[in-house]
Amino acid sequence: MTGKNNEAESKRQRDYIDKVRETVEGKGLKYLVVTFGCQMNERDSEKIAGALREMGYEQAFREEDADIIVYNTCTVRDNADKRLYGRLGVCKAYKTSKKDMLIALCGCMMQEEQVIEKIGRSYPYVDLIFGTHNIYKFPELLYRRLSSGSRIIDIWKETGDIVEDLPTLRKYPFKTGINIMYGCDNFCSYCIVPYVRGRERSRDPKEILREAERAADDGVVEVMLLGQNVNSYGKGLDTKVTFAELLKEVASIDRIRRVRFMTSHPKDLSPELIRVIADNEKIARHIHLPLQSGSDRILKDMNRHYTGEQFTGLALRIRAEIPDVAITSDIIVGFPGETEKDVDDTIAVIEKVRFDGAFTFEYSPRTGTPAASMEQLSKEYVQKNFDRVLGTVQRVSKEQAARFEGRIMEVLTEGEDEKDPSRYTGRLSQNTVVHFTKSGPGPGAMVKVKLDECAGFYYNGTVWVP
Ligand code: SAH
Ligand code: SF4
Ligand code: F3S
Repeated sequence: MTGKNNEAESKRQRDYIDKVRETVEGKGLKYLVVTFGCQMNERDSEKIAGALREMGYEQAFREEDADIIVYNTCTVRDNADKRLYGRLGVCKAYKTSKKDMLIALCGCMMQEEQVIEKIGRSYPYVDLIFGTHNIYKFPELLYRRLSSGSRIIDIWKETGDIVEDLPTLRKYPFKTGINIMYGCDNFCSYCIVPYVRGRERSRDPKEILREAERAADDGVVEVMLLGQNVNSYGKGLDTKVTFAELLKEVASIDRIRRVRFMTSHPKDLSPELIRVIADNEKIARHIHLPLQSGSDRILKDMNRHYTGEQFTGLALRIRAEIPDVAITSDIIVGFPGETEKDVDDTIAVIEKVRFDGAFTFEYSPRTGTPAASMEQLSKEYVQKNFDRVLGTVQRVSKEQAARFEGRIMEVLTEGEDEKDPSRYTGRLSQNTVVHFTKSGPGPGAMVKVKLDECAGFYYNGTVWVP
């Protein structure tokens, strides 16, 4: 499926922004958008914040100061759901002392029927609910809520539309995410994303390049191309284009200094992509390559379409062809039927690939996914294995982290070091954090830093003056 940008719809929504502004402007009202999910959710939050600002709301920094709070939810694991319910409990108190405060919910969790039922039953003070497919309708829905005074719930099951060109407010002025595709068609058996984000739709490459150029005009120097499986980008588009070609095009924009991408599914990572990265210094020396498991049997049950050996081969090829590359990963422990022997296989892959970092997750059953109806493992069993995997990841990535000590490398300055205001914090192309002496032009600047010392997972350094 492809999504064509629907310009008439973005114009309609801009008209609603104007209508809301007529009632909001001059009242000193404040908004807060809280994000629970991944980079794609972050990006959606920037769009919601952009709309709110254009409507005349100012940003609040604490929930209690806000006149409208938007919770942009995630449901990839159960703890994300729990966090939302925790916040909603607190909101009840806000609503008692501040009657006109509005609570809005959106994001992946809202695409689940049982969640909407529960909120309908137990959280009557929520004012507005919408989902992932109609997020662009936020201005219209908020207008309807404000003019009717009654609760609005609008959730769609699916959409083919892509509505862009709406205002957005970037969290950082110098870096941004750009969606290159929406949804996911992979249906890994543990994962809820395909159910809550819908079918895979690639955006037109011209639209993506236009967005990247506009971002560069605004002073953005680092972009991250976003999709659940960027390696399958381009399927169904009229123009024949691969992800590697798109990446090269984005990196050729002059003022863009660094291009990242997230996430790469190992089954579709092409030799062409490895070559493009190797040949292009502007593309980050960082590939996030989720392993999930190193056991062939579990990988098959997870519907991942690769074996532990194929994954290792791919990762080692990447390391051989892209010097200094950092490879990070996601690992799930406790998938139904997983034995200690399967976990040994996962550990063996970690040792061979030597991940520069990896998120280790305890498997969390998600309603409606195939794995949720399989026989589940006991908590104690999973915990022991989880600790083993986590221990290996920590040891290996600590050793990996120290490998650039003493080198002079480029750092994109992100801001002041929170713990020490006399220093700046930034990131290497590898995504590793570097704290360094405050000199140079500050946030958004690319500076050469000598990495004096590796302190666990980050570096302390000094700006290098030749
Ligand atoms: N599209 C990305 C992943 C998005 S979800 C990819 O395929 O690589 C981010 C991570 O959450 C996944 O890589 C997986 O490790 C984890 N995850 C997804 N569903 C999970 C579940 N039910 N339980 C535990 N972890 C899960
Ligand atoms: Fe989920 Fe698999 Fe799609 Fe990633 S590729 S979002 S893990 S279904
Ligand atoms: Fe969560 Fe949705 Fe992202 S479920 S991980 S916010 S796509």
